[in-house]
Amino acid sequence: MGRDPDLLDDMLDFYAPAAKRIVDVCCNRRKMWKGTRWGGKVVGYDINPEVLPDVVSGWHELPDKDSTVDVLCYDPPHLPAAAATQASLKQYVTDYGLEQTCGGDNVAALHLPFLVEAKRVLRPDGLIFAKIKDYIHNHRYQWNLEYFNAAVRAVGLTPCDLIIKRDPCGGNLKSGRWKTAHHAKNCHCYWVVVRNGRCEPRKVSSENVPDQVTRRGARR
Ligand SMILES: C[S@@+](CC[C@H](N)C(=O)[O-])C[C@H]1O[C@@H](n2cnc3c(N)ncnc32)[C@H](O)[C@@H]1O
Repeated sequence: MGRDPDLLDDMLDFYAPAAKRIVDVCCNRRKMWKGTRWGGKVVGYDINPEVLPDVVSGWHELPDKDSTVDVLCYDPPHLPAAAATQASLKQYVTDYGLEQTCGGDNVAALHLPFLVEAKRVLRPDGLIFAKIKDYIHNHRYQWNLEYFNAAVRAVGLTPCDLIIKRDPCGGNLKSGRWKTAHHAKNCHCYWVVVRNGRCEPRKVSSENVPDQVTRRGARR
């Protein structure tokens, strides 16, 4: 239960305390890094120059060399283009990248091009932190978590942890045109931890074990 900035600090402390090269591949205006301890070490890319990223770049052609990145952060648009109407607020469209999303009823098509590049640029045992949201569109529950994990496995990466985050300010992604609800209201999203390797790092050296983590992986 909480906000992304607090969770991201905890995730980096826990999974990647020795990370040096951290790239957010779709940083937008970096809202989720606001006030974090790690934010100053994160390089931000985005395909939209309007949001003033450090580097204007699509996640399907990252400028990084092979096997050089410790952590990639991925928070793609969570809705397909059809979910944004001309009446959508411009701010909403810019903040959530609805001009850079895809067609169809879900955003499954976004994942594979990113994951192919992620596989290339991540160091062995490097990580992806992916924010994934399921939602209802076109009278169907769109199982984005399943689409994402399937694409992760297809490129030879390993989904190795799942955090379900409830946000006190979390929106309920549904159309205002609904008259009858057939699906439960929700205010959660998933943070999936993906590793370029097995579920757990191959060689655990004292360098990448945080103080607060015991050998069994539990926090004191
Ligand atoms: C949900 S927003 C990210 C919000 C961000 N995490 C924050 O804290 O403000 C999604 C972002 O993905 C970007 N985007 C969409 N397609 C992209 C692509 N192919 N490559 C890079 N960025 C992309 C959009 O421009 C948008 O800024």
